[in-house]
Amino acid sequence: MASLRFPFFASLGLLGLLSTLSAVGGLELLTIPKILTTCGENVTLRCDVTTDSALEITELSWKLSKDICTWGQSSKVAGIECMNASSTNSYNYSLTIYNVQPKHKGTYHCQLRSKQGSANGQTIVRVQKCVSNSTANVTSTNGTCIFNDVYPKPEKISWKQGNDDSIGNSATTKITENADGKFTAISTIKLRKNPSLGLYNCSLLVPTENEMNVSMVQTLRSMTFAGGDGLIAHWVSLMLAMVLGIVIVQA
Ligand SMILES: *[C@@H]1O[C@H](CO)[C@@H](O)[C@H](O)[C@H]1NC(C)=O
Ligand SMILES: *[C@@H]1O[C@H](CO)[C@@H](O)[C@H](O)[C@H]1NC(C)=O
Ligand SMILES: *[C@@H]1O[C@H](CO)[C@@H](O)[C@H](O)[C@H]1NC(C)=O
Ligand SMILES: *[C@@H]1O[C@H](CO)[C@@H](O)[C@H](O)[C@H]1NC(C)=O
Ligand SMILES: *[C@@H]1O[C@H](CO)[C@@H](O)[C@H](O)[C@H]1NC(C)=O
Ligand SMILES: *[C@@H]1O[C@H](CO)[C@@H](O)[C@H](O)[C@H]1NC(C)=O
Repeated sequence: MASLRFPFFASLGLLGLLSTLSAVGGLELLTIPKILTTCGENVTLRCDVTTDSALEITELSWKLSKDICTWGQSSKVAGIECMNASSTNSYNYSLTIYNVQPKHKGTYHCQLRSKQGSANGQTIVRVQKCVSNSTANVTSTNGTCIFNDVYPKPEKISWKQGNDDSIGNSATTKITENADGKFTAISTIKLRKNPSLGLYNCSLLVPTENEMNVSMVQTLRSMTFAGGDGLIAHWVSLMLAMVLGIVIVQA
């Protein structure tokens, strides 16, 4: 069995990545090598088979660790749908994942067996840049940033006040994993007494990778808040007291 790979620039929009080709005689099987997606999306993996002559297919299936779909049968996994389409010398078998979640990541294999030959291809599905609602909670002494449903595990939460990014050392960050494999990241910082130093900013940094397998850390979300009314009021009254004090002394 011969097998070769060559770059194929499919016109698949965002999914337009390199594709894989397996060739056995006149048999070709194409898959999208890698799909980068985020929580909540619907993604479609394709397995496009072309041949010189009609195939007597004994197996055409999509597998992750176990079988997900077999040609002509409905999907065995909830939230995943496979569709077959065929014409003369063309057999397409697609797999659609609805509402992608971290549990869907992995390497999916498309396997073809026929009386005329076998071929297979794979698609790596990566789930990244997931985050849902986020809130900043400010009390008179603390500022807290909460990022929900983050995936993959956050690298860190960085802090800044105005242009000062040295304040992060005084922050306490807690990252916890939820039952669904996503993370909650909570970071609390003790507010400084001088609100004139500027707005506070917390940023969620997560690991990501691109189509070319380059890994990086990038900011997924940022929130900004002021030091809190109570704090500003406290500062103003303190200033006032100092001024009054001076006035009293001078009187
Ligand atoms: C995913 O597909 C479902 C069903 O077709 C649709 O209702 C939903 O809007 C789609 N979601 C996205 C993000 O496209
Ligand atoms: C899908 O597969 C089934 C079973 O092999 C077949 O009956 C049906 O015609 C196929 N549909 C298409 C569109 O090829
Ligand atoms: C299979 O997919 C290819 C590529 O998108 C398309 O050109 C071809 O018409 C499809 N074949 C069938 C039977 O749908
Ligand atoms: C944010 O999302 C979490 C988890 O999905 C939920 O428990 C919480 O109520 C949400 N908070 C707000 C303010 O929407
Ligand atoms: C905000 O902080 C206050 C005081 O610590 C707490 O009672 C409240 O539950 C917090 N709200 C959120 C959304 O975390
Ligand atoms: C502020 O944070 C400190 C330390 O993180 C904590 O001990 C304290 O209870 C917090 N105060 C409020 C009002 O949330």
